Amino acid sequence: MNIKGSIVVVTGANRGIGRSLVGALLAHGANKVYAGARDTSKLGATDSRVVPLKMDLSDEAGLAAAAKTAGDATLLINNAGVLEGGSQLTAPIDTLRREFETNYFGTLRVIRAFVPVLEKNKPGAIANVLSVVSWASMPGIGAYSASKAASNSMTMALRGELAKRGISVFGVYPGPVDTDMAKGIELTKTSPDDVANAILKGIENNSLYITPDPMAEQVYAGWKGDHAAVEAQFGSM
Ligand SMILES: NC(=O)c1ccc[n+]([C@@H]2O[C@H](COP(=O)([O-])OP(=O)(O)OC[C@H]3O[C@@H](n4cnc5c(N)ncnc54)[C@H](OP(=O)(O)O)[C@@H]3O)[C@@H](O)[C@H]2O)c1
Repeated sequence: MNIKGSIVVVTGANRGIGRSLVGALLAHGANKVYAGARDTSKLGATDSRVVPLKMDLSDEAGLAAAAKTAGDATLLINNAGVLEGGSQLTAPIDTLRREFETNYFGTLRVIRAFVPVLEKNKPGAIANVLSVVSWASMPGIGAYSASKAASNSMTMALRGELAKRGISVFGVYPGPVDTDMAKGIELTKTSPDDVANAILKGIENNSLYITPDPMAEQVYAGWKGDHAAVEAQFGSM
C-alpha cells in the first residue's frame, strides 16, 4: 500500500511511537492524518493535514463517532497500548485485566468501528502494533506478553477474514523502543522515529510481518529457526 495519498488514523498519537508515526506519515506524503488521542489537547504541534480525533479505546460509542468523522480513512494504525508489568503469579488480577482490556479488547473495538469505513474506501489496510513478546513471553511482563500474543492471534484471524473484504492486515513486532513505556527497561532501545519509518516502509512493501528494529529482526529470525531457544532466552530475562 502507498502511504503517499493515504488517509490514516493513528491511535495513541499524542506520545511515543504514535507521535512519531504522525510525523513520518506526513513526511511520506499522507494526504490526511487523524491523530487519535483520549485527550486531544496533548497532541502538541500540528500540521494542516493533521486532524485531532478523540479516541479512547474503552469507549465504544466514542469510537463509533470517531469512525463517522474519519469516514474517508484508508489505513488504520492501532498503536495505542499499555504495559503495567509484574509477575502473573502475584500481580493483582485487575492489573492483568487492564492490559487485556486495552491491548486486546480495545484494539478490537477500534477495528470493529473502522472496518466498514476501510471497506467502503477499499483497498484498505490495518496495521496492529504488537511486540516481539507476541512470539515468546517474558516473566516480568507476562500478562502484557499474553495480551500481545492474543492480539497477534486476532491479527492472523482478521487477515483471513478481511482479505475477502479488500482490507490487508499487517502485524508490527517491535523490540524495545525509547518511549515512556520502556522507561524501566535496561535494554538497547530504538528511537520511535526510526521505528515509525520502518513501520511505514513495511506497509509500503506489503510485508505482513513488520520487524521495525534490529532486535525485532534478530528475534524473528531466531524464533523461526528455533522458537524454544527464544522462549528459553526470554524466560530467563
Ligand atoms: N516502547 C516499547 O518498547 C514497545 C515495544 C514493543 C511494542 N510496543 C507497543 O507500541 C505501542 C506504542 O507504545 P509506546 O512505546 O509509544 O507507548 P507510550 O509512550 O506509553 O504511549 C502509549 C500510547 O497509548 C495511548 N493509550 C493507552 N491506553 C489508551 C486508551 N485506553 N485509549 C486511547 N489511547 C490509549 C496513550 O495515551 P495517553 O497518553 O492518554 O495515556 C499513549 O498515547 C503499544 O501498543 C506498545 O505495546 C512498545
